[in-house]
Amino acid sequence: MVASAPGRVNLIGEHTDYNGGDVLPIAIAQRTTVAIAPANESVAVSAQQPLLGRFSVAHLAPERRWWDYVGGVAAAFQDSGYEITDFQIAVVSDVPVGAGLSSSAALETATAFALARLFGHDIPPQRLALLGTRAEREFVGVASGIMDQQASALGAAHQAVHIRCDTGAYEHVPFDDAVLIFDTGVRRALADSAFNDRRAECQAALTHLRSLRPSLPSLAAADLDLLREAHLPPPLDRRARHVVTEMARVRAVVDALRVGSTLPGEALFASHESLRVDYECSSPELDAFVARARQTDGITGARLTGAGWGGCAIAVGNPRALATLDDGWITHAAAGARIEHSHV
Ligand code: GLA
Repeated sequence: MVASAPGRVNLIGEHTDYNGGDVLPIAIAQRTTVAIAPANESVAVSAQQPLLGRFSVAHLAPERRWWDYVGGVAAAFQDSGYEITDFQIAVVSDVPVGAGLSSSAALETATAFALARLFGHDIPPQRLALLGTRAEREFVGVASGIMDQQASALGAAHQAVHIRCDTGAYEHVPFDDAVLIFDTGVRRALADSAFNDRRAECQAALTHLRSLRPSLPSLAAADLDLLREAHLPPPLDRRARHVVTEMARVRAVVDALRVGSTLPGEALFASHESLRVDYECSSPELDAFVARARQTDGITGARLTGAGWGGCAIAVGNPRALATLDDGWITHAAAGARIEHSHV
C-alpha cells in the first residue's frame, strides 16, 4: 500500500489551534510517501535511499528516532481499536525535516492513510489526521495542536483549509496566490523547544480568565475587554493578547478570501509582530526576513509560519517581487494526503 501526504504552511492563525481557535493552512507541494506491507511478505522497494523500518505491534515504544512517528500512529490505531498486524515500511520524502513545514505530520498522515487501507479500516480523512495528532502527543511527547495533520490530510489544490479547532469543523476557501517559503536553516526539535512552555502559559491564562468568566470555553474565545478586566500577570497577558488578536486576523483573512480577494497581506505582517512581541516565538533570522520583505516593493505580507523559534517564514505578493527575495521557493496550495497505489 503506497500513500503520500504533504507538508504544510500556515497562512495565518499561529498558536491558536491548541487554544480552541482557528487556523488557515495550505498543503505544500513537498510530500512524504510511504510504502507499507505486512511484515511476513517479501517485497522489493525501488527508491533512492528510502528510510526502512519494521514494526512489531506488540512491542511499540518510543525510541526518540524518526520511526516514532510511524510507531506512534500504529499505537494510536491499536489504542483506538483498529486492529493491525506487524508491518514493514519504506519512506521517501522531499519535505525538509525540522524546518517547521510539518515533515512529521506528513509522515504520520501518510502512515495513517496507508495503514487504514492496508488493514481494511474505513476511516474518514479527518479522523486519520487525529490519529496522527495522537501519535505526536502521546507517543512522541509534543503537546501540539491538531493543525498540521489536518492540513496534510485535508489540503486541496487552489484552496486553503479554514479549520475551527474548537469543533473540528472545516471549510475550503479559494486560495491560489503564490507563497514564497523561506527556510532560515535554523533547526529546532519541537519537543525540546519552548512550545510546551507556551502551551502551559496559555492554560494558566485560561484558568485566570475563567475565575472572571467561568463559562469561557477556550482562550481563543476571550476578547480584549475581558483581558483588560482580568489584569493577567506578565507574560500571560501578552500570550493571551496574541491569541485573541490572532483570531480576529484569521477571521478577517477568511472573509476576504471567501469573496475572492487576494490575501490581505497586512494581516500577515501584524501576525508576525504579535508573534515576535507578545508570543516571543520569533528569531533574529525570521525577523530579518520579514523586515526585508516589508521593504520590498510588491510584497504585501510576510510572517513566520509554524511554531517559530527558527524554521520557516512565508511572504505573499506579486510573484515577480517574491522572486527578488532570492532565498526560498514558491509554492501554491497543493493536494492533501492520498492513496497512490494499492495492491490489496
Ligand atoms: C506547531 C504545532 C501546531 C501549531 C503550530 C503553531 O506546528 O504542531 O499544532 O500549534 O506549531 O501554530
